[in-house]
Amino acid sequence: MLKFHQIILRKFLLLFAFLFLLVGAIVHYWTYDYYIDSSKKALIQDISLLSFTINNRTNFDALARKIKKNLQLRFTVIAKDGTVIAEGYKDKTSMENHRYRPEIMQADNEKFGEIIRHSHTLNKDMLYIAKKIELKNKIIYIRLAKELKGIYHEFVNLGIKISAVVILFFIILFFMSYKINTQIQYETNKIVDFLKALTKKEKPTYITSHYSQEFALITSLLTKISKILAKKEKQHDKYTKKLQNSNRQKDDIISAISHEFKNPIAVVNGYSQTLLEDESINPSIRKKFLTKINNNGTKLSELIDTLRLSMKLDGKTQSIQTHQTNLNELVNETVQTLQLTYPQKHIMIQGDKSIIVNVDKTLFGVVMSNLIENALKYSEDEVIVKISKRSIEVIDTGIGISEKNLEKITEKFYRVQQNSWNNSLGLGLFLVNKIITLHHFTLTISSKVNEGSTFKVEF
Ligand SMILES: Nc1ncnc2c1ncn2[C@@H]1O[C@H](COP(=O)(O)OP(=O)(O)OP(=O)(O)O)[C@@H](O)[C@H]1O
Ligand SMILES: [Mg+2]
Repeated sequence: MLKFHQIILRKFLLLFAFLFLLVGAIVHYWTYDYYIDSSKKALIQDISLLSFTINNRTNFDALARKIKKNLQLRFTVIAKDGTVIAEGYKDKTSMENHRYRPEIMQADNEKFGEIIRHSHTLNKDMLYIAKKIELKNKIIYIRLAKELKGIYHEFVNLGIKISAVVILFFIILFFMSYKINTQIQYETNKIVDFLKALTKKEKPTYITSHYSQEFALITSLLTKISKILAKKEKQHDKYTKKLQNSNRQKDDIISAISHEFKNPIAVVNGYSQTLLEDESINPSIRKKFLTKINNNGTKLSELIDTLRLSMKLDGKTQSIQTHQTNLNELVNETVQTLQLTYPQKHIMIQGDKSIIVNVDKTLFGVVMSNLIENALKYSEDEVIVKISKRSIEVIDTGIGISEKNLEKITEKFYRVQQNSWNNSLGLGLFLVNKIITLHHFTLTISSKVNEGSTFKVEF
């Protein structure tokens, strides 16, 4: 494909050639006619002047010589019968009768006789003007002739001058358009470079042009497009990062869940296999093994229950059935169960033992169990459960939670990175928060790293 300046140059040369031929043709026809015409007029003027100056005493031969010498014109005098009386260019005696020369015949009837024809006498193309005059009651014809070659010469001179002007005009036009073209080339190159950079994502931010309104508009639109693309790119990057993040989170969650299931399943498999292989096993060991299998089965079903409950709460399909419940009794039951798993830990229940609240017993049991278990898991010392008329608090003096993590710990599957994954899904506080919201209670968490945490549920 051709470049822009090549297209312009090609078109320009074509136009130049066409116009040059056209102008040449016009100049040729127009100037040729013009020159013949003006020569004719000059000859008519000359012959009219001559007709006034000629009289009886005029020496025609001398006059013819003079006209030839000074004006380079052929002067002929012809008698009524056609005999040549005087002639500037040839010996008149050798000349034939001129009675029937067309210009002479025309001069007979009209004011002037005029013709362009070949002269047999001189063997040249000539322009003739003839006039009939009366001298001493005698009719004679005077005739002036000009060689066409001379006329043609003058015409060519003019043609050359006009052509020179036309060529000069074209050269100026060419340079002007060449300059405009170079500038346009520069502007388009700028745009092309900008677009190339855009496709390579080299982050071009803006492009300007002050050459013309059109270029200014194009470049400002391109700048806008580049900005939009950069914005889109940024959004795309952000979206991709978010997607990657959420994928990673999902992977983490799946690996955490499978990890939680793996242990109890391994225990169930291991002990049951031992029991199957060794039938003569000691009854007390057999009972120990069966208890382990049973405990881990319970753990598995609890894990599944937690997952199911979290899905129900998340999908807002969990309903609550509230009953007047004695808080102290509910907490006691929970503590007793937890104490089995954490036998060496001390849990202290403080406050009014007769407080009754309207709660869903099972769900609120989940709340208390999670809060107390967290306190047991994340602290070494004793755990206090404080019951009052308006609230219940679970207090520990453990590792605490940083401010950054405080905002996130109630999210589904969120766990503080440093804490071990063992025996945790990161669902406990998510369930707690959802259940408390369902009861229209409020949960306030206050915590300090290395000092401990307080989880307060207000009714
Ligand atoms: N009392 C606490 N002291 C310090 N950190 C806590 C306490 N309670 C919760 N956390 C932090 O908040 C995170 C989220 O708690 P959550 O109860 O939701 O999950 P989990 O205890 O890790 O797992 P799950 O309860 O599902 O077994 C925990 O991983 C832990 O890092
Ligand atoms: Mg927990």
